[in-house]
Amino acid sequence: MKMAHAYRDKLVVGNWKMHGNTLENQARFDALRGHVRRYTETVKIAVCVPFPYLPQAERGLHQSGISWGTQDVSPHAHGAYTGEVSADMAREFGARYVIVGHSERRAYHSESATEIAMKARRALESGLTPIVCVGESLEERELDRTNDVVASQLNTVLDSLSVYERLQLVFAYEPVWAIGTGRTASPAQAQDVHAHIRTLLVSRDRELVNLSILYGGSVKAGNAENLFAETDIDGALVGGASLDPVEFTGICAAAHQAAQK
Ligand code: PGA
Repeated sequence: MKMAHAYRDKLVVGNWKMHGNTLENQARFDALRGHVRRYTETVKIAVCVPFPYLPQAERGLHQSGISWGTQDVSPHAHGAYTGEVSADMAREFGARYVIVGHSERRAYHSESATEIAMKARRALESGLTPIVCVGESLEERELDRTNDVVASQLNTVLDSLSVYERLQLVFAYEPVWAIGTGRTASPAQAQDVHAHIRTLLVSRDRELVNLSILYGGSVKAGNAENLFAETDIDGALVGGASLDPVEFTGICAAAHQAAQK
């Protein structure tokens, strides 16, 4: 039987999105081994790469203490689903995490809440940890709907899982207006929503109080420390800055410092 997550793991995950090539990736893996590895005793660290680079991630990060994963997964186990990649396939290349329900997938691939819940479930069945992304658009924030939107996204996933499965989840709060825009939520704005998410989780099952909730949206070395100082922010899902080894190292260092407090 798999173990439940430890108490609110500090976790920093890079989302490389559709960037890189074998040469650039190698430089990034080398930098991760060289500079980021030292923080792995206190912080769980991972990078989610494009599917074709999973074997390269496996070779490049083998025994480094840094994990790797994917940015999406099929909601199906196998079958006639042209173009899809299953969780078992990712698992064969040592993947540990999968990002599920990223706002770019919700927006550009019309992923529904139900499909996202199926993906999370399928990932869990294959032994992958789903990082479930939730977050409001600018319009929704301005209409004061943030808490409702986040609650509905979160509840659809929780509803499809057993209590035991829920204990394996990681959530990432990613306000859509802060992704790739350089516009970060202030630490206080992020904390408000993180606290809301934790309250929602606890209202479902008390044990879910210990799930890690990451913040994502223009996290950089320069703002990570203030974000990680907030009570309910357990780490980060990092897009753009995860491609820059100096930035990503700085974010992991900030998580390491926060873990020691
Ligand atoms: P960003 O992306 O850090 O470039 O804003 C975050 C994400 O999309 O996960």
